[in-house]
Order: sequence, then C-alpha cells, then structure tokens
Amino acid sequence: MKYTSPRGTRDILPEESFVWRQTVNKIINILENYNFSEIQTPIFESADLFQRAVGDTTDIVEKEMYIFKDKGERMMALRPEGTASVVRAYLQNYTHFQKKKVTKLFYNGPMFRYERPQTGRYRQFHQIGVEAIGSSSPFLDAETMVMGTQIFQELGLKDVNIAIHSVGCDVCRPVIKEKIKSYVESILPNLCEDCVSRYERNPLRILDCKNPNCQTFFAGMPDMNSALCKECNDHFLGVINHLEESEIKYNVDSHLVRGLDYYTKTVFEIRSDLLGAQNAICGGGRYDNLIAELGGRKTPAFGFAIGIDRLYMVLNELGLTKEIQKQTKFLIIGLGVKGQEIAFKTVLILRKRSISAEMFYKDNSINDGLKEALLLKVQYAVIIGEDEIDAQSYTVKNLKEKKQFTVNSLEELISIDN
Ligand code: HAM
Repeated sequence: MKYTSPRGTRDILPEESFVWRQTVNKIINILENYNFSEIQTPIFESADLFQRAVGDTTDIVEKEMYIFKDKGERMMALRPEGTASVVRAYLQNYTHFQKKKVTKLFYNGPMFRYERPQTGRYRQFHQIGVEAIGSSSPFLDAETMVMGTQIFQELGLKDVNIAIHSVGCDVCRPVIKEKIKSYVESILPNLCEDCVSRYERNPLRILDCKNPNCQTFFAGMPDMNSALCKECNDHFLGVINHLEESEIKYNVDSHLVRGLDYYTKTVFEIRSDLLGAQNAICGGGRYDNLIAELGGRKTPAFGFAIGIDRLYMVLNELGLTKEIQKQTKFLIIGLGVKGQEIAFKTVLILRKRSISAEMFYKDNSINDGLKEALLLKVQYAVIIGEDEIDAQSYTVKNLKEKKQFTVNSLEELISIDN
C-alpha cells in the first residue's frame, strides 16, 4: 500500500463512528444537565501557550508536541490537550464570561501528542473535556467528579472507581518536593534515566515512573498527605466528604501525579482494568494558578477530560457497542427499468417521511438484493418485480423473523411498525 495513515493515527470506520457519536451525544446530554456549555477552540495555538500552561519539564512539552513554524515565522503547536486553549479563550473573551461567577465549558475534539503508539495510546486521539472556572469550593471538585462517574455509569460501566489525591499548593508543594527529593536521593543510583533527570527538574513526576525496576524502590516513599498545608488538607477532606455523601467509590492514591504541571490541590483519574497499561479513561483536577499564569486575575478552576478512543475500547470489551448499531429500515429492490424507477421514487418518499431507506441499484437479481439486505442489516427487504408492478403492490420480507407478506400501497409500506 502506497499511502497509509500516519503512525499513531487511525481511521474511525462507520460502525465505530456511529457508536462514537451516540456515546458523545449521551455524554453531552449529561454535561448540559450540569450546566456546561460547549466551546470550540482552534486545533493549533501558539506553542508558547502550552509550554507555559502544561509546563516546560513535562513529557508533553519536552517530547510530545507537534510544533511547526507558520509562514509568518510563528511557532505553532497542534493542541496536546484542551485546558490551556479553554483558559486562553476564557481570558481572550473575558467580557463575554466575566458576569458569571462560575463559567462551565466543555469541548470535544482531537488532540495530538507525539507519543510511542501502543494499545490505547495514539498520536491523534479524542477528548471530551470540561472546565469549570471561578470557584474554589470543594463542592465543585466533588460535583464535577460525580458528573464523570455518572457519565461512565450511564454508559454501562458498572464499577467506576476514582483514584484521588492532592498535590498541594504553592505553600506546601515545595515541602512535598523536598520530602520526595530527600527520600529519592538515597535510591537515585538505582533509578532510570528519566527519574534521574526528573530529580532536579520535576521531582513529583518521579512518582509517575512506570519502570518496574524503579517501582520496587518506591515502597517507602513518604506520604504526600502528611505534608499538605492546612488549607489543602481541609479542602481535600471536604472533597472526600462530599464524594462520600454522593456515594461515589474512590481510593486515595498517594502516588498519583499527573502528566501536566498546572494542577493544585485535587487530582484524580478514572481507570479501567480492561485497558492494560494505558488504563486511564479520564483524568483531571483543580488548577487554581493557571488563569493568573496566563495573564488573568487569580481565578480557581477545576476540570477533567475523558479519552474517547479508550472509552470506546472499554465499551467494546464489555460488549456494549453491539447494542448501538445503525439500522436502515428498508432496502428496496426493483427489477427491470420500471422496477428501478418505482424503487427510486419509493426511497425518496420514505426518506422524506423520515424513514431510513436504501435502494438496490442492480436491476436483475433478487438474490443479490437479498444478500445486500443481509449485509446492510436492514429490517425489511422490499421487492418490486413484474408481479408487484402489475398488482401495484410490494412484497416485503422481514429479515429477522424470516416472514414474507404483501402490502398494497405505499402508505401501507410507510406505516409498517409505525
Ligand atoms: P490527560 O490525563 O493528559 O489530561 O488526558 C485525559 C485523558 O485523555 C486520559 O485519561 C486518556 O483517556 C486520554 N488520553 C491522553 N493521552 C492519550 C493518548 N495518547 N491516546 C489516547 N488517549 C489519550 C488532560 O489532557 C487534561 N487537559 C485534563 C484536564 C482538564 N484537567 C483539567 N481540565
């Protein structure tokens, strides 16, 4: 094959696309019930925006951004995530948003990261993300996570469990970092190259190392919770309390750090065992400094993003995608020139009456038409042969029940099952 899709990207074929759209629509319904409104931002932005927002020492910025110079010599990046763009849009359109105390936005679209492709990890992948800007209340953290849980439960994922933790704030983060550094110092010679480089540059990220050898040395890592300042600790306890009130299952994962540097206080992930190594289907948290870092007033915010490619994989593993299939109701098979003409008129009328219908374009074989009907998984094959033309009737085959009957008018055909 001369041309194939770029490594790490894929074509989403019709069956998956159909399930995908139904799934996204269901999610959006829930988001709108929680008062989130859609925002659409460009797929590329100034590279500097992501460097600033996501963090210079993160893998995303250091290794994974698709960066290019445009014809005006500006450094651009394909967006690796949505939060930075939404915050940029929030600040740029501030007069539009400023009257509301809390602005709740969602977005849906492709993101790009130059990662090593593997199951569930792509270079172009899709997220639905939410950003709730303007409140530091632990109710907002809890409510947004409850919404995430509700999304997965309504899609049929029964056992949703939130891994949650607090990464502290400007006051206690340095203490946490120092605690980790002083523990890691003694084990550093045993750790991988990435850990060594993170030791100076971003020690919290050492906790995120997936190298099995490094993991064996992490057992005695200090508990970050004990280093949280009073405000962060109270906030964390508040969030957990509200999750419990909402009967949400969670576990405190004191090694949870996220791949983006803008988080403060709460961070969380929702994972699925069905996914293997890349097991996070949703991740997010609070980012109370980002808006000020990008030039706005200090404004607290909380958000998350769901990976739709991974969500689809989970739904598929659970057999839930089989239930969501597109179905065309009729395939109209017309024999000869006259039969084809009637078939053509019939499908047009059916579609105008909002009934899904397809025409079989070959005019000389009922058998081929019926085979096509099975492939298309239509409910009914409708035959218009010589006898039907003479009698102005339609022979209808119910393919599921394997029954055949005759209807004597178009109105009768239209009213089948209606
Ligand atoms: P993230 O954890 O980097 O967070 O991505 C969120 C989700 O996107 C992941 O849990 C995963 O399902 C999916 N995902 C990430 N990378 C890939 C990939 N290479 N292939 C397939 N799926 C992937 C963020 O992006 C934050 N902006 C979330 C957020 C919003 N935090 C606050 N607000």
